[in-house]
Amino acid sequence: MKKIGIVTSGGDAPGINAAIRAIVRTAYSMNMEVAGFQRGWEGVMSNDSRPLTPRSVGGILQLGGTILHTHRSPQFETKRGVRKAAKTLSHTKVEGLVVIGGDGSFRGACDLSKESNTLIVGVPATIDNDVYGTDETIGFDTAVNTALAEIDKIRDTAISHERTFIVEVMGRKRGFLALTAGLTSGAEIIIVPEIKTKMETVAQTMRENQKKGKRSSIIVKAEGAGDARTLAKEIKKRVGSEVRISVLGYAQRGGSPTARSRLLASLFGNKAVELLLKARGDKIVGLQNGQIATLDMEKSCSTTKPLDLNLLLLANVLAT
Ligand code: F6P
Repeated sequence: MKKIGIVTSGGDAPGINAAIRAIVRTAYSMNMEVAGFQRGWEGVMSNDSRPLTPRSVGGILQLGGTILHTHRSPQFETKRGVRKAAKTLSHTKVEGLVVIGGDGSFRGACDLSKESNTLIVGVPATIDNDVYGTDETIGFDTAVNTALAEIDKIRDTAISHERTFIVEVMGRKRGFLALTAGLTSGAEIIIVPEIKTKMETVAQTMRENQKKGKRSSIIVKAEGAGDARTLAKEIKKRVGSEVRISVLGYAQRGGSPTARSRLLASLFGNKAVELLLKARGDKIVGLQNGQIATLDMEKSCSTTKPLDLNLLLLANVLAT
């Protein structure tokens, strides 16, 4: 294999640049050239790429975002878009493509693989951590730490004013970020989309906490687990507590990656190139029980990653 490409697609996540660096430098050490496609699948469809060299990826390890830029591309979800991308890959003689992104990006990659001879390997990077086949995605640890730092600060006000705060974190339809940030911040209540949480259960927990002498509460709620304002109104009505809402938003997607996110990015990037060199495509790389592993991309896309509900039980026990 002489030439590979990289595309970063979907939401950015801290550590993507570290993965780009690892891919480029591993590829060069194995005498391969690298083309970086710009703006996600848009760049593949329109043949917009630039050469990436060990020097051009210098100084990016610590940067959030993606130097290749990214995009959510509705056109790539069509047959026509996928065919355009396949044409670019054959025209530019890209024999292997590393797709850095989440499950949506991998679904697109599976479609592309059916139309193209280029081998495709996925590197999971999303703050949502919702990719089946890896215990952790690039960027998740950084996002958890960003959310945690904010929740710790909000805790100061919650205690001082004896208030209840609903802190809404990202995660799309999944609760990985909420669960980990909630457990590590000692949140009194964690609400995730995977478990139906009744308003009365929340109210009851708050009443019990009040009886135990707790005068403030932090509720960490995943963005996909219902409306924060409705929850705040219900708590006011049922418990009488003053509730404030804090939506953490896009700050969770940015910033310098933690050591853990950089390490995963370096290991995943390196492994992805090794797979291509062995002519193994249609795979994703991942972390399974502390080891770097691979899984069929199709299987990853079609399987829902389970949330560890034992962690939720533990969080409830520790928050009493
Ligand atoms: O997938 C990452 C993520 O930040 C989700 O947590 C969030 O729901 C979504 O992206 C936001 O998407 P967009 O960047 O398109 O607004």
